[in-house]
Amino acid sequence: MLSEIETEVIRVDATRPEASIIERAAGLLRAGNVVVFPTETVYGLGADVFQPAALERIFVAKGRPHSDPLIAHIADEASLELLTPALSEQAKRLASAFWPGPLTLVLPRGPRVPHLATAGLETVAVRMPRHPVALALIRALASPIAAPSANRFMHVSPTTAQHVLADLAGRVPLILDAGSCEVGVESTVLDLCSEQPTILRPGGVSLEVLRAIIPNVQPPRYRQALGTVDLAESESVAQHSPGQMLTHYAPAVPLLLFDGSTESMRVAMLEEARRRQTGGERVGVLAADEDVATFQQSGALVCSLGNAAAPAQIASSLFRCLRALEDARVQVILCRQFDDGGLGLAIRDRLLKAAGGKVIGTGS
Ligand code: TXA
Ligand code: MG
Repeated sequence: MLSEIETEVIRVDATRPEASIIERAAGLLRAGNVVVFPTETVYGLGADVFQPAALERIFVAKGRPHSDPLIAHIADEASLELLTPALSEQAKRLASAFWPGPLTLVLPRGPRVPHLATAGLETVAVRMPRHPVALALIRALASPIAAPSANRFMHVSPTTAQHVLADLAGRVPLILDAGSCEVGVESTVLDLCSEQPTILRPGGVSLEVLRAIIPNVQPPRYRQALGTVDLAESESVAQHSPGQMLTHYAPAVPLLLFDGSTESMRVAMLEEARRRQTGGERVGVLAADEDVATFQQSGALVCSLGNAAAPAQIASSLFRCLRALEDARVQVILCRQFDDGGLGLAIRDRLLKAAGGKVIGTGS
């Protein structure tokens, strides 16, 4: 049992973080404690990567199994030598194109990296975030910061300090609050230790832009199955990449995911919303702007994700909207699927996971 501690939330300037606040947070990390900090993707729950006892606190606070490895966050490329042997040409090209930014590279593990950070794997995940608060904190600690998303295990990642508080109040001493995260979905995890560079988790850097630098980057393995997923098959693929379980991002409320043409998804969702409301259920809908009015007329509680043709908008509001509908105590959430271009691949991935891997086909 974790004994409750007091959680302090401190506002910090997102562009020019106050040195005294950063120093206070770095002091906690130095002393082997955990601190929640903002990144451009989602909030992270950080600890000094070289203090195993501090890493253990991350797993306890999140309720996360040790089989799920952590990402080490760095503020400059010189710190890479603490984490991994000499970089390949490929890794150098990717780092110079996308760091700082929402790309995580899976690299060979250096001897100093604790096994707790890598779940015993011989690889280590590394990223250089671009959020000024994250960078300032890593620099002040003068050591890489291991950090998973700052949510309870299996819950949706947090994109505001309030989301973190809802999940981790009483479990962490300090949350640095710099407002909403810009990208809204987690970083792309790219495995550079497999035969071909392979995306393990689509995220803030798209497949298309990665391929502009390294043409043979492979999409996530389950991707071919998207649309009509065979849950059993996808789960068995998922086991090979830690943290890729299809239930990873499950919201507390069941989510029904519809796929097909815009019109057929709309018709099928409206029918489902009406049927369930007639049965007395409280229905929530995650809708694109163009469908908001239609679903509001149906009496469902509607949260607008943004313009369906602007995946960056949808990504930045997705987790906030999932949490808002959970908080409104709807009994089921209906959502349409989105196109897979650009950030769309990450959106499809998170929705598929929130739906437990099941998709309702509605024809085209
Ligand atoms: O945007 C992000 O990546 C956020 C912010 C805080 O940086 N972090 C994040 O961490 O999403 P987490 O722990 O929630 O997700 C990290 C993912 C997991 O799916 C984990 O399995 C995978 O990265 N991962 C970490 N190390 C790995 C490794 N050595 N090999 C394969 N996958 C790894
Ligand atoms: Mg996570």
